Amino acid sequence: EQIEKGGYEHFMLKEIFEQPKSIHDTMRGRLLVDEGVIKMAGIWDHVEKFKNANRIIIIACGTSWHAGLIGEYLIEEYARIPVEVEYASEFRYRNPIITDKDVVIAISQSGETADTMAALKLAKEKGAFIYGICNVVDSSIARITDAGSYTHAGPEIGVASTKAFTAQLTILTLIAFKLGKHNGNLGNAEFMSLISELDAIPKKIEDVLSATHELTQEIAKDFIGATNFLYLGRGYNYPAALEGALKLKEISYIHAEGYPAAEMKHGPIALIDENMPIVIIAPKKGHYDKIVSNVQEIKARKGKVIAVVNKGDQQVSAMADYVIEIPETSECFSPIVASVPLQLLAYYIAVYRGANVDQPRNLAKSVTVE
Ligand code: G6P
Repeated sequence: EQIEKGGYEHFMLKEIFEQPKSIHDTMRGRLLVDEGVIKMAGIWDHVEKFKNANRIIIIACGTSWHAGLIGEYLIEEYARIPVEVEYASEFRYRNPIITDKDVVIAISQSGETADTMAALKLAKEKGAFIYGICNVVDSSIARITDAGSYTHAGPEIGVASTKAFTAQLTILTLIAFKLGKHNGNLGNAEFMSLISELDAIPKKIEDVLSATHELTQEIAKDFIGATNFLYLGRGYNYPAALEGALKLKEISYIHAEGYPAAEMKHGPIALIDENMPIVIIAPKKGHYDKIVSNVQEIKARKGKVIAVVNKGDQQVSAMADYVIEIPETSECFSPIVASVPLQLLAYYIAVYRGANVDQPRNLAKSVTVE
């Protein structure tokens, strides 16, 4: 096992550090920047289904559901196809309206999650075209879908998903750009600039890992006694906030809640005092001014702010108690980049609390029962 961990203390840390490679592997053979194309046979063979779909319904559980939420932002923005994102367990039990004009995408690392599988079967019975985004090759979900794209993240052993999540985001980004280019919503110049930016994401993740590895350990030390955490973000980074909070609660057992930053005033603000740590994702592109006022509201109530900002940021950084810098990207890529230091922060808080990060209590890597 020590050998499999490749010198890292836990699989989770190894998998966090593998992300430049896993994202690269997921894009390999698909993203051909020099030729200006995205090659995805699963999408291309059925592109008319997607193009003419009434809507795309994404179904998933856990971390994969968070990837799905970001997929909604991506596909609606770039391909202009309406998207709904559903928890598989809710979808299957509420007599959903599905027709043969719908495309259903299931996202699942393991490809074995019982609720996702059952929801897919239901969609298939009702005539929808079903598409899979799985990490495990030849898994049950991969086998029953009409078509799909594998995330080539490699085996993920840590129960808390890290590299599978960023690989799912990579696939969803490729799908959104490919469909947008095909249906004419994404012009050639913008397409070209987005794909070259995507191509450079693995390098940016590498930089983020080296720039934040020690820093997140320092920050983690100050919060080992915390009992609650709030994670806030807007737009693309709202689901990234949900995922940041999920990582922390899964492995450290600290209660953490993710929220859209603007919704803070409809509830969570009542909880803010000097004992409440608040992680806020505040990149330059993405409602930055609004986030600045959210941070002001938090500081007025003495909350402890851990801000994830772009390099060179001033306004939020001046107010924050802790600052984590990430490189600037187009808004659609910021959840991939911002998630990395949040994974590290959750990891180190859990490690310093003595938790078993690879196998947290009560959780399973793949939930094959209801
Ligand atoms: C479990 C795992 C999570 C995962 C979820 C969905 O809860 O602990 O890490 O996100 O199942 O799993 P899937 O394999 O369908 O992505």
